[in-house]
Amino acid sequence: MIKVKNLHKSFDSLHVLKGIDLEIEQGKVVVVIGPSGSGKTTFLRCLNILETPTSGTVEIDAKALDFGEMVVVTHEMRFAREAADEVIFMDQGNIIERGKPEAIFTNPKEERTRRFLNMIQ
Ligand SMILES: Nc1ncnc2c1ncn2[C@@H]1O[C@H](COP(=O)(O)OP(=O)(O)OP(=O)(O)O)[C@@H](O)[C@H]1O
Ligand SMILES: [Mg+2]
Repeated sequence: MIKVKNLHKSFDSLHVLKGIDLEIEQGKVVVVIGPSGSGKTTFLRCLNILETPTSGTVEIDAKALDFGEMVVVTHEMRFAREAADEVIFMDQGNIIERGKPEAIFTNPKEERTRRFLNMIQ
């Protein structure tokens, strides 16, 4: 289990991650998609302790290391669709929408997700 609570990250005055909340169940593969600059890599780096969050918490329990929850960032939508148990759409430092790949790619609920998918497909 990976638990992220109210994660914020700023670089000087640039507020990049704006309160990310996320729980990932044991063994799940989560793929993060979203526009350039939305904070995907910064989020991943915070999970990997390559960046120190400005505030908020990241909990990774020992089983996560044994059973391999995985968070990946991609611009390859086909990969996201095939590899993910769950897809997360990020924009401007927030999680806008999350769900099964089928739901996100064929029936996104949020206008911002729809716009992003239309733009890149
Ligand atoms: N070390 C850093 N110092 C200052 N600003 C940074 C740093 N790392 C990232 N940023 C800024 O944070 C914002 C988010 O960047 P990030 O790399 O997380 O986006 P991304 O979603 O991974 O984009 P891309 O799809 O292009 O890889 C951008 O405005 C970027 O310039
Ligand atoms: Mg990136």
